Formats: sequence, C-alpha cells, structure tokens
Amino acid sequence: MLQTHALAATVGALVGFEMSVSRMPAKPREKRIIILGATSAIAQAAARLWAVNASHIVLVARNSERLNAVSDDLRSRGAQTYTVAMDLAEPGAEQEFGRLVKLIETVDVVLIAYGLLGDQNVAESDLAAAQRILAYNFTSAAAWCLAATNQLISQDAGALIAIGSLAGDRGRKKNYIYGAAKGGLGVLVEGIAHRLAGTGARAILVKPGFVDTPMTAGFHKRGLLRSSVDQVARDIVRSAESRHPVVYTPWFWRWIMIGVRHLPWAVFKRLDF
Ligand SMILES: NC(=O)c1ccc[n+]([C@@H]2O[C@H](COP(=O)([O-])OP(=O)(O)OC[C@H]3O[C@@H](n4cnc5c(N)ncnc54)[C@H](OP(=O)(O)O)[C@@H]3O)[C@@H](O)[C@H]2O)c1
Repeated sequence: MLQTHALAATVGALVGFEMSVSRMPAKPREKRIIILGATSAIAQAAARLWAVNASHIVLVARNSERLNAVSDDLRSRGAQTYTVAMDLAEPGAEQEFGRLVKLIETVDVVLIAYGLLGDQNVAESDLAAAQRILAYNFTSAAAWCLAATNQLISQDAGALIAIGSLAGDRGRKKNYIYGAAKGGLGVLVEGIAHRLAGTGARAILVKPGFVDTPMTAGFHKRGLLRSSVDQVARDIVRSAESRHPVVYTPWFWRWIMIGVRHLPWAVFKRLDF
C-alpha cells in the first residue's frame, strides 16, 4: 500500500495534479447467516467474526441457556441475533429450515457445525451408541444440507458450509465410526458442490485438524499440529467466499492427509492411530 501511495504521489507530481489512493478497504456487507450447532466452540468463533459486520445470525442449538449466552456475546459485538432451541438430530429438517430462513428472509451462509465424536470403544459393542454417532454426524446433517441446498438454489446465491473431519479421509481403528459418518458427509457435500457448479450458490466442506474445543478435551494434545478455534474460524469465514469445495484447516493438513491416504496398507496396518 505504501508503494502504491508513493507511486501515486510521483505520478501526481509529474502530471501536475493530486491523485488520491484510498487507504480504507470497502466495508464488508452485513451477512445473513444460519448456524446449526451454534454452541460449538468452532461455530462461536466463526460467529464472532461475522458479528463485527453487523450480520443477522440465526443461532440454533439444543441448550437454551448456552444459546442465550452465545447470542448475548454476539449482540455485544454488533450482530443481530435470533435464537432457536432444537435438537438438530430430530427429523423435520425440511420444514424447520424454512422456518429458520423466514426469520432473516434470505440466507448468505448456512454453517452446519454440530457434531458428536462419541466413544469408539463403547460404540463397537453398543450399536445404539454407534447409530447415534452416524445419525448425528451424517443422517441428520445430510438432511439439513439438502434442505439448505434447495433454499440456496431458489435464491441462486449463498454458501453451504459443513464441518467435516480428517477422520473421514481414511478409516482408522481408533475412530472409524465417526470417520465413516464424516466421510459420508464429505461425499454428500462434494456432490452438492457439483450440483451447484455454474449457479450462484456453492457448497464447501471444511475439514479441521485437531482443534482445542470441548469435543477434544479428553484427548492428548498433539503439539504443533493443534490449532485454535480462531485459526479454524478464520478459514471457515474465508471459505464462504471460496470456489473450492474442500478446505483443510489449517492448510497443511491437505498435504498430510494426501500422505495418510496413500500410505501402503502394509505400513498403514502397523500404525497405532
Ligand atoms: N475439535 C476438533 O478437533 C474437530 C476436528 C474436526 C472436526 N470437528 C467438527 O467440528 C464441529 C464443531 O465441533 P467443536 O470442535 O466446536 O466441538 P464442540 O464445542 O463440542 O461442539 C459440538 C457441538 O455440537 C452440538 N450438538 C451435538 N449434537 C447436537 C444435536 N443433536 N443438536 C444440536 N446440537 C448438537 C453440541 O451441543 P451440546 O453442547 O448441546 O451438546 C456442541 O455445541 C463438529 O462437527 C466436529 O465434529 C472438530
């Protein structure tokens, strides 16, 4: 920018009039956003970034008390918020999504952030627990994705962002049930992105690495590979403008996961992860 100003001043002096270069970036337009799973730590961080542009944000989560706390925080940062308490794994996405859109008339971004990691050891013997992991992370999320897609198609605009996981890139013994659900969600969102190609709308799957949130509270933290919710939130907010259907966050996970996906079975089966 300094170089631009120096160039403008020099050219101005040469041609005998003053050229001005604005230092102020254009003010970002307020957005209309629906967040499913608004009490998630990652979703809250993304919402805080959207809030500063006076966005209108519909916050959906099942815990009313925490939902209201999130709403108060976002309002204090400049957002206009609407809260809806519901269990997102319950059926009825199609009708409920229409109700959510009515609160803000049109929607620029739909963020599907809720998820359930569950306990792989328990789920291997308790099939109801396994079904819950699959239903929360895939079946119900898929229904919300499809409902959101129909709305975006009717507007010919807007972005659907779903949070997937590295676990969906290759089945590993420690989390293949959660991984299968997130992998399925990844295929669904990629297919939606394909369906939306050439329209004004788009779909993006964001795949975070290891993020410090309540979901990973009981986990051994992996030093340098850990990321903060703020780092991931910045990538989520940026992804809404992206034409890429898959975003790894932080970016280096794309390259790590290419390696993991291509590890020969003879090596892979010996790894304890
Ligand atoms: N943290 C990581 O390392 C990581 C890595 C990759 C992907 N992800 C994904 O990122 C997303 C956000 O997770 P997070 O890390 O921010 O964890 P988090 O803070 O624990 O958030 C998970 C959220 O999902 C909500 N939720 C679960 N089931 C729900 C349901 N049936 N209805 C409504 N809300 C429901 C939870 O609400 P309650 O508080 O009411 O339970 C909670 O707010 C998830 O999809 C997760 O799978 C996380």
